[in-house]
Amino acid sequence: MLQTKAKIIDNKKVKGHYFHCLLLAPSIAKKAQPGEFVNIKITDNYQPLLRRPLSIHRVDAKTIEFLYEAVGRGTEILSRKKQGEYLDIIGPLGNGFSMPKSGHSILVAGGMGVAPLLFLAERLTARKSIALIGARTKSEILCEKEFQDLGYSVKIATDDGSKGFKGRITELLRNVLQVQGPRQQKMVYACGPRPMLKEISRMSKKHKFSAEISLEEHMACGIGACLGCVVGTKKGLQRVCKEGPVFTAGEIIWREEGQ
Ligand SMILES: Cc1cc2nc3c(=O)[nH]c(=O)nc-3n(C[C@H](O)[C@H](O)[C@H](O)COP(=O)(O)OP(=O)(O)OC[C@H]3O[C@@H](n4cnc5c(N)ncnc54)[C@H](O)[C@@H]3O)c2cc1C
Ligand code: FES
Repeated sequence: MLQTKAKIIDNKKVKGHYFHCLLLAPSIAKKAQPGEFVNIKITDNYQPLLRRPLSIHRVDAKTIEFLYEAVGRGTEILSRKKQGEYLDIIGPLGNGFSMPKSGHSILVAGGMGVAPLLFLAERLTARKSIALIGARTKSEILCEKEFQDLGYSVKIATDDGSKGFKGRITELLRNVLQVQGPRQQKMVYACGPRPMLKEISRMSKKHKFSAEISLEEHMACGIGACLGCVVGTKKGLQRVCKEGPVFTAGEIIWREEGQ
């Protein structure tokens, strides 16, 4: 874990409320693994007080990238930062996805869940991989071309049917699994809204496939000290910022509501 002042090389709108940020941070870029995140101090005057966590979306030798949605005060201020300004960041934090050397990977990204999965897609060496991207509507689909450029077979699901499969991404996943059949060795990686992750966990148990999910939780310290981000697991309470954000799907104890 490193703390550094990273220079903003680029910070611009991709579409709608979605932004892309490129930072010069060679020390973090060198260590980063898919699934890990950084915790960003948004302003020097601690307004907002807490750092904001963002997944590492891509890395190059000297740079790291984020893809983020401006949803509130912190990300709104971040979206107005200019090229040449500096951000105080801590990272890489958390654990990463596992990297099987063989078998078939299915990446399932709901909304902003594409952010860590593109980095994973770049690093996975397993062949014949599929990326499922879900969004409310066509204009909110992110990274379709980027996954295609990596050789992934991309399938889209939209809630309103404006592109691809009409319905939930978990229904599209069910269709893909049916086509593959139970004997195909596979690993599902998922990031997105909690109900989606909960359903994938249920499916992984029922249909007996391995799955890793990346959880989001409100964070205070981001480094395992405050216990503000714990989730219930079969091993007891675990910190999303330290033992996570990536968990084996079957590990999480889902409450009826919320988690
Ligand atoms: C490990 C991790 C990785 C993340 N990666 C990304 C990413 O790559 N791109 C991205 O756009 N977002 C990501 N997030 C979510 C991001 O951290 C929040 O959207 C951000 O902190 C919101 O800050 P804000 O001040 O703009 O919004 P706030 O004003 O704090 O809140 C606005 C809304 O966002 C919700 N929210 C705030 N923080 C979180 C959180 N940590 N998890 C879930 N919902 C939250 C609030 O409940 C509220 O509804 C990640 C979160 C975690 C924990
Ligand atoms: S945010 Fe403090 S322990 Fe996770």
